[in-house]
Amino acid sequence: MSPAPSLARRVFHGTLIHSRSLTEIEYITDALLGVNEAGVIAFLDKDVREGEVVARLEAKGWSGVQLVRLKRGEFLIPGLIDTHTHAPQYVNLAYGQQFELLEWLNKVTFPAEAKFADALYARRTYEGVVQRLINSGTTTVCYYGSLHLTTKVLAAICHRKGQRAFVGKCNMDRLSAPNYQEESASKSLENTEEFVSFVRGKCVSPTVVAASDGTLGANPTLAPASRDSFNTSLVQPIITPRFAIACSDELLTGLGEMLKKDPSLPCQTHLAENPTEIEFTKSLFPFASTYTHVYDHFGLLQQNTVLAHCVHLDHDEMDLIKSRESGISHCPNSNFNLRSGTSKVANMLDRGIKVSLGTDVAGGTSLGILSAIRTASFASKTIVFTQRDSTAPSASAPTPPTDAVPIVSADGKTTYPPGYFSSRHLSIETLFYLATKGGAQVTCLEDRVGDFAVGKEFDALLVQTGQRGSETQKEEVGGEEQYELALEEGLEDRFPADEFGSSLFVEPEDSLEKVFEKFLFSGDDRNLGSVFVRGRVIGGARPLA
Ligand code: GUN
Ligand code: FE
Repeated sequence: MSPAPSLARRVFHGTLIHSRSLTEIEYITDALLGVNEAGVIAFLDKDVREGEVVARLEAKGWSGVQLVRLKRGEFLIPGLIDTHTHAPQYVNLAYGQQFELLEWLNKVTFPAEAKFADALYARRTYEGVVQRLINSGTTTVCYYGSLHLTTKVLAAICHRKGQRAFVGKCNMDRLSAPNYQEESASKSLENTEEFVSFVRGKCVSPTVVAASDGTLGANPTLAPASRDSFNTSLVQPIITPRFAIACSDELLTGLGEMLKKDPSLPCQTHLAENPTEIEFTKSLFPFASTYTHVYDHFGLLQQNTVLAHCVHLDHDEMDLIKSRESGISHCPNSNFNLRSGTSKVANMLDRGIKVSLGTDVAGGTSLGILSAIRTASFASKTIVFTQRDSTAPSASAPTPPTDAVPIVSADGKTTYPPGYFSSRHLSIETLFYLATKGGAQVTCLEDRVGDFAVGKEFDALLVQTGQRGSETQKEEVGGEEQYELALEEGLEDRFPADEFGSSLFVEPEDSLEKVFEKFLFSGDDRNLGSVFVRGRVIGGARPLA
């Protein structure tokens, strides 16, 4: 086998924005950031003036490398991390919105996922899913596949395109649909073992499908020559029990044993999403005091477990999740759309639980984490009042943090009654953290991605807002007497169509903080010029060569 072609070194000069903590964003102007042949950040110098760049690079022995000079209105941010989405549900995006969870699964979702028995159909669909996600700025994803082994196709596509991904073949051996449920716990476990070794074996053998009966076979066209150039560890298998209702005791026991045998295997599942789901779950597992305790009983709450939703957790459940160091994927779009409820994110964060964002397509109706950021903000604004947790004994009530929004009574008294959850709306700093560093924590990738620390891998987005320099503004805004002139002169020359099409309506005098906020809350794919994973450009609206 020929050695993998190495990546060219690349240097960026300009503005970087990344999260430092739940309460702090760092804005670095005049940054000089170098990415080495392995896609790792080799240096990050601050306050390097334009005129000093060349000398600085020479001194480092980095002359002759590609230098990307970011213009005004352009900046780099870390790649966005989506810790919960369902690849086979993209065909239902924005469809079937009248139902709550269990009815939605039966009427809308299981029939759609059943079609993924056909591997060619899976391939056609997953190609589009992965590229759209990449172009929406998602550099790391936790994917649910369908229950089929055709989920191998999804892993192979992520692998080939260079997206960082955790891919799970769904486990579900009961209470689903007649044509969409695994035949037995043992078959489910056997297929899971096969799936795990396929992904860990670099998605090479067999390289997926062709047969119309959906069986897997060799198909060399899915394996382009460049495939070896991607380090395969970008794609990892993840154990994926759909949710407790759809899994027999035998299946959950088997999956727990797999995790115990190999603690490096991550796990993802749904938890406490909807009140009817919770009641049903408790009736199926009467030995467990709560829904969360069901998963704990089977050994599924590990520090590399991702728990989607967690809308209706009580204090005991939050304590349990914290003690197991499992992470939460907050999926606000889905929680609104399926009328599941509003997650108490601030309270989870105050307890030190790891929280991140998920799109949960197609429970969620929007693609990409920028949308999740916005909806997480709106969701948090709907629960700025302290909410009562009726299940908690007053003795276990947490002390409200000082910045929690208190209850103010008619006589002006501020109180936090015992047994209440604190809550507050999430700041921009917190939202950006959830979308980047929070995602890295929940996926246990915080040593590799999430910010621009030296030594981390360069997963990043080159954001282009269309902001112009103030000198240009002076030239262009001429008052009323220049109106005629403006009409005559041909605006096209000054404002290329593309710039109009992707404008964020930022003003030349807008501060960087203001431009960033406008981007977070109104930017989209058109503002993501290039998308990088481990230093490589894998997508974007105007990808760098
Ligand atoms: N619970 C079990 N399956 C699903 C699913 O596909 N989507 C959501 N949102 N919740 C689930
Ligand atoms: Fe989900």
